[in-house]
Amino acid sequence: MEKYPIVAGNWKMHKTTTEGISFVQETVNMLLDIEKVTIIFGPPFTALFDLDVKSPFYLGAQNCHWESHGAFTGEISTDMLVDCGVDYVIVGHSERRHVFHETDDWINRKVHAVLNAGMTPILCIGEKLEDRESNETQSVLNSQLMQGLKGIDSLENIVLAYEPVWAIGTGKTASVAQVDETHNTIREELKKVYSEKESNTVPILYGGSVNPGNATELISVEGVDGFLIGGASLTSAPFTEIARKVEQHMKEKS
Ligand code: 13P
Repeated sequence: MEKYPIVAGNWKMHKTTTEGISFVQETVNMLLDIEKVTIIFGPPFTALFDLDVKSPFYLGAQNCHWESHGAFTGEISTDMLVDCGVDYVIVGHSERRHVFHETDDWINRKVHAVLNAGMTPILCIGEKLEDRESNETQSVLNSQLMQGLKGIDSLENIVLAYEPVWAIGTGKTASVAQVDETHNTIREELKKVYSEKESNTVPILYGGSVNPGNATELISVEGVDGFLIGGASLTSAPFTEIARKVEQHMKEKS
């Protein structure tokens, strides 16, 4: 099956269920004729159950637990997400790593749990500003990548997202050169473990202050397969505009 570029919105802790439903209705209506782009809505857990979308629109959750059930107050299992019609789960987002102190080991367990439940993990990796300034970017990314994927034999049902922490919610986007270099290096690192083909084709999204003004240049970077969007995914106008720019790029490429 051909893999289309992905435009995924991570709503973070925004929107009630009522607000989510009307936002999704409005957005889907604006994109009824979208072609060759996969659109993912990533609402808070509360809105997932009442949202119902059809291809090319999908639901993504922002997190999950790795155990199937049990005494884990405040957590949510992959079965619960599947029951809500979820197809993708964001795992290891930088806010989970740095605000909630998730470890690479937990993130790896979550990647396994999501795959075992038949969903697709969107495994996020990203360096902090201090890592970049001390030339540690690649070692941080390689470590997050390989620990996150430990025990995973195939990249077939994996999506990766490169989100430099310093670019998230700051209005600072990584430059085209930085994104190009980083996505390439991620693929080179993957080739140490996975086949050339899988390493070259696993979707790697870019995230960090993506907006309608920078979407075209970023999607034009070889090796960028879509976006994971925070702020600009919360209102229909910028979100749909980004999706159209990705669609336009696909049309020009083919
Ligand atoms: P912003 O697009 O608001 O920078 O957020 C990016 C992000 O964290 C998506 O997961």
